[in-house]
Amino acid sequence: MIEELCSQGVEEVFATPHFYPENGETPSDFVKRRQVSCGKLVSNPFYPHIHLGAEVSICAEIAGIDGLALLKLGKTPYILLEPPYEDWQEWVYQTIFAVEAKHKLKPVIAHVDRYFDIVRDKKKIWRLAELGYTIQINTSVFRKSRFHPVYKLIKEYDRIILGTDTHNMTSRPPRIEEKILRKKIGASKWHEMNNYSKDLFGGVNG
Ligand SMILES: [Fe+2]
Repeated sequence: MIEELCSQGVEEVFATPHFYPENGETPSDFVKRRQVSCGKLVSNPFYPHIHLGAEVSICAEIAGIDGLALLKLGKTPYILLEPPYEDWQEWVYQTIFAVEAKHKLKPVIAHVDRYFDIVRDKKKIWRLAELGYTIQINTSVFRKSRFHPVYKLIKEYDRIILGTDTHNMTSRPPRIEEKILRKKIGASKWHEMNNYSKDLFGGVNG
């Protein structure tokens, strides 16, 4: 996957393995396990720099977990939070607020494009934008029709970052699809999103 990203011109990678608090693993045990996996990576000076993070599943108890900040995205103050795959209720927002307030972390909401087909009232998705959160959209959004409501969000909101959500080389391979995406969202939006990403994550070491 890293080689493939490299061939697509990627210079920096935020690796975000899933963290499921319901599995009973603590953030520090997760970080140890992640370090073991990371140690198996072949080092190559031409490969992108890899920052370690996590994709933290939002469940009611996450704000109360000690050491949640260990899961942030590299040395940034951001944490990638994955909303549940159900019609969002108020507790989802309250949990996001609590993560922010208690752990002094800045939430990034994962693959929001996926929830347009799950959350019935689309205003609930727009609420994330109204609250000013950074929203991550999967590059696979290029497969959706240009009339899909996610494009309205992309067009009108300016705190959006892209992610590949890559899991493997078969069903969910790393695909940036810059050409198709640029065509669908427009070159200026593409640049805006990339510049915003650089503002958030550029220049972080480690
Ligand atoms: Fe996810």
